[in-house]
Amino acid sequence: MTGPIVQPRLHSVGDTHAELLSALHARCFDDIWSTATMRDLLQSPGAYAMVATVVHDQPAGFVLARAIAGEGEILSVGCLPKHRRCGIARWLMSAALGIAGDRHAKAMFLEVAERNIVAQALYVSMGFAIVGRRQNYYPGQNGREAALVMKRALTV
Ligand SMILES: CC(C)(COP(=O)(O)OP(=O)(O)OC[C@H]1O[C@@H](n2cnc3c(N)ncnc32)[C@H](O)[C@@H]1OP(=O)(O)O)[C@@H](O)C(=O)NCCC(=O)NCCS
Repeated sequence: MTGPIVQPRLHSVGDTHAELLSALHARCFDDIWSTATMRDLLQSPGAYAMVATVVHDQPAGFVLARAIAGEGEILSVGCLPKHRRCGIARWLMSAALGIAGDRHAKAMFLEVAERNIVAQALYVSMGFAIVGRRQNYYPGQNGREAALVMKRALTV
């Protein structure tokens, strides 16, 4: 840990929070997921999301996931730059994994850009392992970039 250990408050949110999730996503990623895109995702079968807040109920991060038909997927996770390395993504990921387990998912999957070493460190520290690679998957600044597929078993 480089920052203070923070236990954020986690709030389950739904499609009425699509605008907030879109704004948080925009502060964490280069690509934009519009409010409409977020709303569509949140209305899709099995989708769920959480927002982490810290002091004064300020949003600090989010996770968007899905659990359906025995499998879970992390669709997106992000922490605002000024709150990074305080454990917030770990809290969000743990909660998302717990919900997937409660919904009887046997495994959790995610995709991560091959160059995103920081996110991969988070996922490996939480028990995810690489199970696949998708060439030319994400649009990048220097042409398309590969994605890694990672998986973690869930104890049901
Ligand atoms: C990746 C991201 C979500 C991590 O959020 P965070 O709240 O800072 O992560 P945490 O503080 O919970 O860190 C948990 C673990 O992840 C790893 N980690 C996080 N940041 C790291 C860094 N800069 N360097 C190396 N490892 C790191 C460490 O294992 C860390 O545990 P430790 O602090 O005990 O060593 C955040 O950097 C982010 O939002 N990045 C931009 C969006 C993104 O890439 N999302 C993932 C897309 S797949």
